[in-house]
Amino acid sequence: MSFSQKLAIVTGGASGIGLATANLLRARGAQVIVWDIQGDSKPVDITNVPAIAEALREMDHVDILVHSAGIQTYGTATSTSEEVWNRTMLVNVTSAFLVTKAVIPKMLNAGGGSISLVGSVQSVGAVANSAAYVTSKHALLGLTRSIALDYAKQGIRCNCVCPGAIDTPMLRWSAAQTDDPEATLVACAQVHPLGRLGQPDDIAKVIAFLSGEDSAFVTGTAFLADGGAMVPIGGAAFQENGTARAKI
Ligand SMILES: NC(=O)c1ccc[n+]([C@@H]2O[C@H](COP(=O)([O-])OP(=O)(O)OC[C@H]3O[C@@H](n4cnc5c(N)ncnc54)[C@H](O)[C@@H]3O)[C@@H](O)[C@H]2O)c1
Repeated sequence: MSFSQKLAIVTGGASGIGLATANLLRARGAQVIVWDIQGDSKPVDITNVPAIAEALREMDHVDILVHSAGIQTYGTATSTSEEVWNRTMLVNVTSAFLVTKAVIPKMLNAGGGSISLVGSVQSVGAVANSAAYVTSKHALLGLTRSIALDYAKQGIRCNCVCPGAIDTPMLRWSAAQTDDPEATLVACAQVHPLGRLGQPDDIAKVIAFLSGEDSAFVTGTAFLADGGAMVPIGGAAFQENGTARAKI
């Protein structure tokens, strides 16, 4: 699928899934603008309204928006501090509102477009000790569905991409918070029936599909790209320890 003549914004495009997506869209002909607080591009903090407005000032239209910027936080409903809760909501949820609010009018100028919000399997399920993160990723699915419904007739599609565990700096940072990072990464890989971690390119290819005409009839979805992680009832451990396996 070619994206020549298309203008794409990728938030969080300096690292991980966003970086792979920016590279793939560029390789397929799009003009890609990265909004991130790190890396080579002009810095854009996606929680800062004036910074977003300034970044958009010279752009007359936008065809593709990929919102990949996000942070991982940990804690239960009782152990999560208000500071961590508010920061998680700001960076993961409010930013998506602010960016889509600013970009959608530019997309309408282009006669439509495609938005991919990067959620997670945690947009449709939960892992332990991640109350703020899980809540933030569920919220992105709500925003996805609202945008899909409100702008469908104006030619804007919006989908929530829901990756499993992807080998990025974020996942490596998460693993580094545990006693045995290597064992944690192996365990993360085993969560997927496909038996490996996802790679940033696995998700970039899905986002490219959702960004182009091949997905013209797809909107409002929680689009799982999770190596089958959400398939087993009770999770991988439930089956791997034999409890769900019949002897015959
Ligand atoms: N890696 C995984 O296993 C995984 C799984 C499911 C979902 N996700 C989601 O995918 C998205 C990308 O994750 P990743 O693993 O590529 O992480 P990453 O840490 O490699 O990249 C995230 C990028 O977002 C940028 N960012 C953070 N705050 C920002 C801000 N205020 N303004 C602008 N940029 C900001 C960071 O600088 C970084 O470059 C995130 O939303 C994450 O929650 C990741």
